[in-house]
Amino acid sequence: MRISVIGQGYVGLTIAISAAKSGHEVTGFDNNAVLATCLNSGDSHIEGVASIDLQGAIKAGKYRATANASDIAGSEIVIIAVPTPLDAHRAPDTAFLESACKSIAAHLDAPALIINESTSFPGTVRDLIAPMIEKNAAKKLDHLYAVSPERVDPGNEKWGQKNTPRLYAGLTPEASEKTRAFYSSFCDNLVEVSSPEVAEAAKLFENTFRQVNIALVNEFAQIADAIGISVHETLDAANTKPYGFMRFNPSAGVGGHCIPIDPTYLAEVSERLGVPATFIKRANEVNLAMPHYIVERVARDNGASLKGKSVLVVGVAYKPNVADTRETPAEIVIEALKVQGALVRWHDPVVKAWKDESSQPLAAKGADITVVVTMHDAVNVSDVLASAPYVFDATGKVPGAHGL
Ligand SMILES: NC(=O)c1ccc[n+]([C@@H]2O[C@H](COP(=O)([O-])OP(=O)(O)OC[C@H]3O[C@@H](n4cnc5c(N)ncnc54)[C@H](O)[C@@H]3O)[C@@H](O)[C@H]2O)c1
Repeated sequence: MRISVIGQGYVGLTIAISAAKSGHEVTGFDNNAVLATCLNSGDSHIEGVASIDLQGAIKAGKYRATANASDIAGSEIVIIAVPTPLDAHRAPDTAFLESACKSIAAHLDAPALIINESTSFPGTVRDLIAPMIEKNAAKKLDHLYAVSPERVDPGNEKWGQKNTPRLYAGLTPEASEKTRAFYSSFCDNLVEVSSPEVAEAAKLFENTFRQVNIALVNEFAQIADAIGISVHETLDAANTKPYGFMRFNPSAGVGGHCIPIDPTYLAEVSERLGVPATFIKRANEVNLAMPHYIVERVARDNGASLKGKSVLVVGVAYKPNVADTRETPAEIVIEALKVQGALVRWHDPVVKAWKDESSQPLAAKGADITVVVTMHDAVNVSDVLASAPYVFDATGKVPGAHGL
């Protein structure tokens, strides 16, 4: 089939290459022209989409990236995979979705199946995407609409596009049926739900569940410190219960495009409907405060002042073994250290370059203080311990260091 995928980031490129490998003719449209050129030269920017897969899809004539929206004309299926971030007030920002809808309206010249994979609030397909495309189209086309929220976990080697169960629902039975037929060409396990709203809400609730439990364990880390016990030993002990307990580990906070953001989409709908989303709001507060708590602990252990201290932050990616720095708690840790007067450098062999700075070496005794925010497999524990006389570990992966 002729497929277009709007947005060639983490989600869009992954889906585009999976579809191309299963024989579909795929156009990857991204309004970032530099990215489109890069992709056409076979250079993948996404963990999990190896350049070799991308080059294979290009060589087989099954994939082409473009920055020209008119190239989506003639598609039988259009998948939307654009960012759904928060705005400057930390409220849901649907501007990218709206602009994707306008491109579809302007360039689709025949009825197609339009599937949203971007994470958004319940009602997005029915109340935003379908009306927006219909309102902006030059002529009336009877498109079909569906949602299939993406669950990809960048860097996860066990669960990928093929074996992660995929939720889906169409606005009509015909849309559901065609959505199932498309995804079954490269996904093993498809789960139909009764409405797009259920699929949209399930995706938000999955990430809200993680966000709230991460906040709970982060608060517990602070309680454990006040009691004077090890949070990790206590969690190990709780985890011996064979039922009714699911372990989450404390950290410097949450990052990436999902956990810090998606719950706010649920909270926004909830409050609009008059239900106060108290857990979601409190979890956001606790997780956003965690980097400050870590810097306070580091200051407390170092004579209450970090003024003039040379501090090395290890790991600026938001999670281990990926180069993604979106919403990384390392950014708040670094800012808070600087506010205290510390001279901050960072080391991250996976990210390498970030915010016009480069990763600095993890030299023996190279700093007064080292703060570990994210521990990649490529970083050696003994090198971290040797890097400064005082090492604070927010990850629980550096035995022998001070830490949560
Ligand atoms: N990254 C993840 O792990 C993950 C997992 C599951 C779901 N999601 C969701 O998937 C969606 C996409 O996330 P992502 O991580 O792929 O984002 P991304 O930022 O990696 O990529 C989005 C791409 O869309 C492009 N774009 C933006 N507006 C466009 C437009 N109007 N037309 C064409 N291209 C446009 C951008 O240039 C960018 O390359 C979001 O809703 C996100 O919440 C992400």
